[in-house]
Amino acid sequence: MLSPSLSMASALLQENTGGYPSPPILALVEGGLCAKDRFGRRPGRIRLGPKDTPMSTATVPQTTITDWRQEWFEFEGATYLNLASQAPLPKVTLKAIQATMDAKKFPYQKPDSIFFEVPNRCRANIAKLIGAQPEEIALTTGASSGAMAVAYALNWKSSDEVLTSRGEFPLQYTTWKPMEQREGIKVNVVAPQGKFLTTDDVIAALTQGALLLLDVSQSCGAVPMDVRKLGADFLVCAGYKWLLGAFGTGFFWIKRELLASVRPGPFYWMAVAGSDNFSKLDFSNPKVEESARRWDAPEWASHFNFNLESLDASVEFVLRATPETVLEHNQELIDFMFSRLPVDRCVAASPLDRKLRGPYGCFVARTPERTAELYKKLREQNVHVSLREGKIRVSPYLFNTIQDIDRLIAVITT
Ligand SMILES: Cc1ncc(COP(=O)(O)O)c(C=O)c1O
Repeated sequence: MLSPSLSMASALLQENTGGYPSPPILALVEGGLCAKDRFGRRPGRIRLGPKDTPMSTATVPQTTITDWRQEWFEFEGATYLNLASQAPLPKVTLKAIQATMDAKKFPYQKPDSIFFEVPNRCRANIAKLIGAQPEEIALTTGASSGAMAVAYALNWKSSDEVLTSRGEFPLQYTTWKPMEQREGIKVNVVAPQGKFLTTDDVIAALTQGALLLLDVSQSCGAVPMDVRKLGADFLVCAGYKWLLGAFGTGFFWIKRELLASVRPGPFYWMAVAGSDNFSKLDFSNPKVEESARRWDAPEWASHFNFNLESLDASVEFVLRATPETVLEHNQELIDFMFSRLPVDRCVAASPLDRKLRGPYGCFVARTPERTAELYKKLREQNVHVSLREGKIRVSPYLFNTIQDIDRLIAVITT
């Protein structure tokens, strides 16, 4: 029997994953990230005027990388600081998709055995990324489909409670609110005690034996994680952000021990045990395989799915880059941003302490109207960030350098 209440908290991740080693891949270049651009030029530094007091005093980051930029196409003069919204596909991913599209012109060239090659590899690589087993991974169309799978898979009682926290992505409401009507459960929202939600806020609201579902869409790939150490029961994740995949990709992880106790439900025919042998499909009494494959999106887990091909190539790329490298790189850029934002015009809207932050940072102007104006001005000047819940969210990636942060600051201060 599964326990009575289910809790969600993507915020737990940020504090639980501290203590990762420094990334060995970053090469030290004299003068920090902006010492030279990729053409060998020294960029100018933005000078702050006397009124432009910075909000923190972090120094110029001392690590740098210049050749990651080569892994993406040119951004046509745009400064892209919006990976938390939509990842630009790396070149290697686009090549992989193109190859699969070409293969679809001549399907007779491929043996049946190739059908499962991509999903098998993708599952194994996602498992590697989060410290799980491949059979615990379902390949989905995004985070919501994983949350829906959990909603249908549990045995609910009308006294059950779902806890989520303030500021969580709307999928928490779109998944769990209808369950109030359907199963008679109750959705409760945890509010932060201080300025920002902390792990302690969520833990204080949990009852013993609660199941924990983490939405890792804004951290998986950019924050090192190990599902067993997180103490999670389920993970749901969108693939088009820090996993660098196409829109319409994602994964769902379920702890192996829970597989035996979930409610039976409809599943796709390729999740039948032995369905990888097309000439021996069971047409009379197909039994579901003891794995998370039953939650694979129908027609999803195949070599011929262009979207899945993108996730496969991108997850391999992320594994090569390592989440440690991404986090370190981003935290340096965001620290630098906070050290340059003028305190008379801007206020931090995410923790200044990097240990309490994920891979991006947020700030606001002195009034909501000015924040909206600032966002508009940035966009007009081809600097791309997000406006979320009245806050400007800056989410860099490996292709960004300190010059991009300089450009952001220049638009704000001029
Ligand atoms: C925390 C979080 N979860 C999930 C999503 C997307 O969910 P889905 O993959 O279901 O579209 C987003 C998108 O911005 C997000 O920020």
